[in-house]
Formats: sequence, structure tokens, C-alpha cells
Amino acid sequence: MKTEIRQKFIVANWKMHTTSFEAQQLSKSIVEGIAAPDHVTVVLCPPFPYLPIVGDMLRGSRVALGAQNVYPEAEGAFTGEVSPTMLLDLDCKYVIVGHSERRHKLGESDSFINRKVVCALASGLDVILCVGETLEQRQKGQTEAVLDRQLSTGLAGVRPEVLSHLSVAYEPVWAIGNDEHHATPQQAHDTHLLIREKLSQMIGATWSGELTVYYGGSVEPGNAAAFLGQEGIDGVLIGGASLKADEFLAIVNAGILETEAEMQRT
Ligand code: PGA
Repeated sequence: MKTEIRQKFIVANWKMHTTSFEAQQLSKSIVEGIAAPDHVTVVLCPPFPYLPIVGDMLRGSRVALGAQNVYPEAEGAFTGEVSPTMLLDLDCKYVIVGHSERRHKLGESDSFINRKVVCALASGLDVILCVGETLEQRQKGQTEAVLDRQLSTGLAGVRPEVLSHLSVAYEPVWAIGNDEHHATPQQAHDTHLLIREKLSQMIGATWSGELTVYYGGSVEPGNAAAFLGQEGIDGVLIGGASLKADEFLAIVNAGILETEAEMQRT
């Protein structure tokens, strides 16, 4: 369970970007540039091959290491895949599961994502389950039904004792890496309410209130504070803006300021 003060979470999803040298430099600049590391939780999710390099840079800091994907078996004949055991071996604490690019570009189904969620949680990883509707689904008024399906199938069979290691990221597909369509903080807020309501039905009001719920989709230094200031948004998942140290640090700073504002209020 968390303490009274809800720290903001800032997660960098580097996707399939950086070279090994860039990964090292970027993580070094981030570790060295965070003003108040104990006021915010920062997680870097580099591509698989760079996990050890970034892990070395993060060692001894308060910045955590995460992976962008995982295969739902401990080991075996699964060519090209990476197991939860391997991620733990490399000091990963977090793993992103069900990102929309894996759902829509790599064809991952809700039930396959569910296997990953259950297996990664059982292995001891902290799972960030991504959910979100496409533009067409939103325009057809299907947002609630899509989120309902992604959450109920995605979280089927998750045991209550691992819920403290679960978080959910709301990432509307139409707002990810998109210059044309941006979700407003109000839209994000309203959908976060829907997600909490659904979670409350599934895991009870207490856990639904405790769970960290992120927003993701074209978050940048200019809008981060507006998203992080919404009630119910505990953190942000950053793609493009996490590849530039100054932009990412500005977003981390917005998280620190929001946590500090929360400290003043309580
Ligand atoms: P973006 O990506 O910040 O580039 O929109 C977010 C994500 O895909 O997690």
C-alpha cells in the first residue's frame, strides 16, 4: 500500500530508439539532472539490448529500470523472446504490457496480454498495463466498451496479493505520437474516471483508489503539468519527449512540483 502522499510517476518508453552510446548518455543525463529524486518515481524503459547499459547507469540512483515487453513463460523454446526471469536478472523492476503498438502493429490479443500480466506479476515484476481506444472507436462511442474489455480480459485471474505491483496506463491510440490529435487534460480526466470505476467493480473501491493510473499520448514539457494536475492521474508515460534529456527532465520537474503541491495540501 502507498503512503498518504501520492508521488507522481514519470515513465520513459524509448520504444525502438537510441544506439547503445545514446542510451548510456541519455540515462546518465537523466540520473544527474533530476532535482528532487525522492519526490517522484522515475522509470526508464530502453530497448531490450540496452537494459544492461542503462541498468549500469541507474545503479545507486533512485531511477528504476523497466522493459517494454515480456514473454509469458519463465524459459523455453520461444525464439527471440525475453522472459520475466531474464528481466529480473537484469534488475528490471517494471515492465510495460499491452502497449497499443504491440496490440495494433504486432497483433497482440487481450488474452495474450492477460497471460503476460499474470506471468509477469507472479514473477515479481511491477506491471504497467496499457489500455486505450482507437480514433474510430472513440468516434463511434465505443471508448467505454473497449476499455471495459481490455481491463476485464487483461486483468482476468490477477491475484489480490499482487495488486500492489499493478498499474494501468490510459493511452488513447489516436493521441500517441500524434501532432494532429491531442487529448485534452479534461478528456484524459474523464476517461480516467471511467477506468477507476471499472477497476472499482473488478477489484473493489479501495484497490481501485490505490492503484497508480497513468496518462500517455503526446505528453511534453508544455502540457505535462496540466495532465499531472488532474485528479486521478498519478503519472505520465512518455514516448517521443523521453528521448531528449532536457524535455524529459522538464516533465520530471512537473511531477516533482505536483508531488510537492500535494505535500502542501495534506
Ligand atoms: P508519445 O508516446 O509520448 O510519443 O505519444 C507515448 C507512448 O506510446 O507510450
